[in-house]
Amino acid sequence: MQIPRLEIRDIVKSFDGRVIVDHLNLTVMPGQVTCLLGPSGCGKSTTLRIIAGVEMQDSGTIHVDGQLVCDTVHRVPPEGRSIGLMFQDFALFPHLTVAQNVAFGLHGKDNRPRVESLLTRVGMLRYIDSYPHQLSGGEQQRVALARALAPKPKIMLMDEPFSGLDDRLRDEIRDETLEILKDEGTAVLLVTHEPGEAMRMADEIALMRDGQIVQRGAPYNIYNAPVDLQAAAFFSDINVIHGNVQGALTDTPFGQFLAPGVPDGTDVDIAIRPQHLKIDFDRGGRGPSPTAQDGTAARGVVQRARFMGASSLIEFRMDFDGSVLRATVPSVFLPKPGTPLWIMIRRDRCFVFPHKGMG
Ligand SMILES: Nc1ncnc2c1ncn2[C@@H]1O[C@H](COP(=O)(O)OP(=O)(O)O)[C@@H](O)[C@H]1O
Ligand SMILES: [Mg+2]
Repeated sequence: MQIPRLEIRDIVKSFDGRVIVDHLNLTVMPGQVTCLLGPSGCGKSTTLRIIAGVEMQDSGTIHVDGQLVCDTVHRVPPEGRSIGLMFQDFALFPHLTVAQNVAFGLHGKDNRPRVESLLTRVGMLRYIDSYPHQLSGGEQQRVALARALAPKPKIMLMDEPFSGLDDRLRDEIRDETLEILKDEGTAVLLVTHEPGEAMRMADEIALMRDGQIVQRGAPYNIYNAPVDLQAAAFFSDINVIHGNVQGALTDTPFGQFLAPGVPDGTDVDIAIRPQHLKIDFDRGGRGPSPTAQDGTAARGVVQRARFMGASSLIEFRMDFDGSVLRATVPSVFLPKPGTPLWIMIRRDRCFVFPHKGMG
């Protein structure tokens, strides 16, 4: 079995008696990009700072390539951990040239060839003698990447490194950065609160909440098999229908749903993303016939339809309880408010969770 590049076990960290990182476990394999994804304040940056060695955990261990880097007794200093850092506010040194910035973490005499090859790699060679204030935000970001890569770190820790860039530039720099990191074979732990960024960058996502990892997996799996309603709702807007379980089934206006292993009498939330609702036309007051795949159709009346560019967003008020469901459909579909339509829920696209509220 391959040894993880980075392995953190059972890390705990409190501030002022409040547990911020709560028995957290995490591994990053060589050459992989792992995204630590979670809402603001859940402890992502604290975790990264502990790994970098600028913050000390209360308990737990950190290993790099199987070697103990830090427990509560032994502690390799930050510069000895072979870790590269890229933070949003990790500014370049303003009084140093681009070349001097990139060479900053390098020892030895003739660093010029390495500096030139890194700047070539990030497309910044022609700015080698410029100063940071002469560069745009995106260009500074490229230089910061070159600087972080210069000492050939085994692991790159990145804390929301792209959040200072505007949208178009962000996508471009994100993709370039990813390509360079993959080429260099660096293991990456990237912190972000944006699901879109995590899905775009990650080989594996570690979903964090209240100081703990609640789910790990490839973006596809995390998106399509969330552990709970909160995890599902973190990635997109979500529709929720309520039910109660009897005999491993729950009856709803959309027909029955399987709830295997859920005890009788349990309230459940049936969650479905807006792009997975199926819409059909009204046929003289009737909808489509029930099917095994889509269940029973329930009638809703269009409240609002909005054109979103690549898709249209339609809000329905449901006849059965007056609740509002939202559907997105590709391209242009803009039914008038008041139009009755029939909605079905694809059984292979919905998630059934025991009800526990949104915490
Ligand atoms: N040095 C510190 N002293 C006290 N509280 C801190 C310190 N660092 C972080 N915290 C608290 O820990 C919580 C998590 O912070 P952080 O790790 O920055 O979250 P995230 O990066 O996920 O937004 C926040 O409530 C923050 O105020
Ligand atoms: Mg943070």
